[in-house]
Amino acid sequence: MKLRHLGLVCACVRLISGHCLEKPAPLPLATRIVTQFPNPTWIENIAVRSNGDLLITELLPKPILYTIENPASSAPQVRLLRDFFAEEPPVEGLTGIAEASHDVFVFVGGSTTNLSFHAWSVNFTSAAYNPSTTTGPIIKKIAELKDVKLPNGVATLPGSPSSVLIADSLAGLAWRLDILTGKSIVAAQTLEMGAPSNETDPSKRVGINGIKVHGGFLYFSNSNSRSIYRVKIRKDGTRDPSAHAQLVGRLPENVSFLDDFAVTSHGGKGATVFGTTSSDNRLWAFVQGKSPVVVAGELDQLTLAGSTAASFGRGKRDRDILYVVTSGGVGKPLNGSLTEGGKVAAVDLRTFCPPIMIG
Ligand SMILES: *[C@@H]1O[C@H](CO)[C@@H](O)[C@H](O)[C@H]1NC(C)=O
Ligand SMILES: *[C@@H]1O[C@H](CO)[C@@H](O)[C@H](O)[C@H]1NC(C)=O
Ligand SMILES: *[C@@H]1O[C@H](CO)[C@@H](O)[C@H](O)[C@H]1NC(C)=O
Ligand SMILES: *[C@@H]1O[C@H](CO)[C@@H](O)[C@H](O)[C@H]1NC(C)=O
Ligand SMILES: *[C@@H]1O[C@H](CO)[C@@H](O)[C@H](O)[C@H]1NC(C)=O
Repeated sequence: MKLRHLGLVCACVRLISGHCLEKPAPLPLATRIVTQFPNPTWIENIAVRSNGDLLITELLPKPILYTIENPASSAPQVRLLRDFFAEEPPVEGLTGIAEASHDVFVFVGGSTTNLSFHAWSVNFTSAAYNPSTTTGPIIKKIAELKDVKLPNGVATLPGSPSSVLIADSLAGLAWRLDILTGKSIVAAQTLEMGAPSNETDPSKRVGINGIKVHGGFLYFSNSNSRSIYRVKIRKDGTRDPSAHAQLVGRLPENVSFLDDFAVTSHGGKGATVFGTTSSDNRLWAFVQGKSPVVVAGELDQLTLAGSTAASFGRGKRDRDILYVVTSGGVGKPLNGSLTEGGKVAAVDLRTFCPPIMIG
């Protein structure tokens, strides 16, 4: 790695602890399979509990919420929390999930055939358990998302525990859902969130997709423009009226889609965004002002076939591990015909060094 380039000093910084590592591993990094589902299974999104357990949503063939206990151990356990298959009105798939307040998560889904979408909560707080009737967490429907055209990513609002943000990929905006009243308002809408309106192919009409709140900014991916942006928001999740969206990074034109992402800071020197790319089968790192780089996965390998979303570990042993979920490539089979069951893969980022600017 070149240390000096155009007068800027680049340094390798270990992501979480902020220590420099002498020998970054060659890219793409190796990945480990945490768990894999039968073919076909499209895993769409992931959130992580403070105890380290993963929560994942299935888009197809069934709308299922799973938890994966002890993901960093040699024997992770997969537990089905709820299958929404027989739900009325029908639910075809689940999409985004995020923690609203401690151990209370909100997830969304519905039917694109009937344009009917809902938000549910899953509550793990110990008092919510009722051992005499159930051993699982409390799952309840919190709202019908009447005005939402296509709910996708969900974001935690650190300053507002009774609300979450929900990306609307077709309308090109972010809603704020109050989980106590079930009411939604438009929190942020910028041109950069929009999808091209002249396209008839639905896969080319996905604007804002993943959303995360980090350091006072709402970070969002725009799938069809292959870009990550960020815009300043207020504590309540609404856009700062004087703020414009800033480009964090854009993928090359030969990558057709940018999906959900995870974002992290390193020692107060800016943020790195780790973006998944669905049919591009790779995980990319974005640092503002730099060209995105491939971190893991390969276009013609099953390693991260159909990568859909990513989240950092929160257990004692996996804070430098990025968990990436996949569709197994069912949206666009690899080499024209290869797919596998969707999976949860772990990428160890201790040996990944994003180039960052100092001074
Ligand atoms: C759409 O709605 C109709 C009428 O409620 C229902 O019979 C049908 O099962 C729904 N289909 C899907 C895929 O949601
Ligand atoms: C979660 O469950 C706890 C215990 O029953 C309850 O006090 C709390 O209000 C619930 N939170 C939400 C957002 O439903
Ligand atoms: C839609 O508009 C964009 C930008 O002008 C253009 O690149 C694209 O080819 C158009 N797509 C269709 C289907 O006309
Ligand atoms: C995609 O474009 C980049 C440059 O923007 C090039 O380096 C790369 O080889 C291209 N990849 C493919 C698969 O065409
Ligand atoms: C896809 O095809 C390329 C080129 O023939 C090959 O190198 C690659 O190994 C294939 N991928 C898989 C998963 O078989």
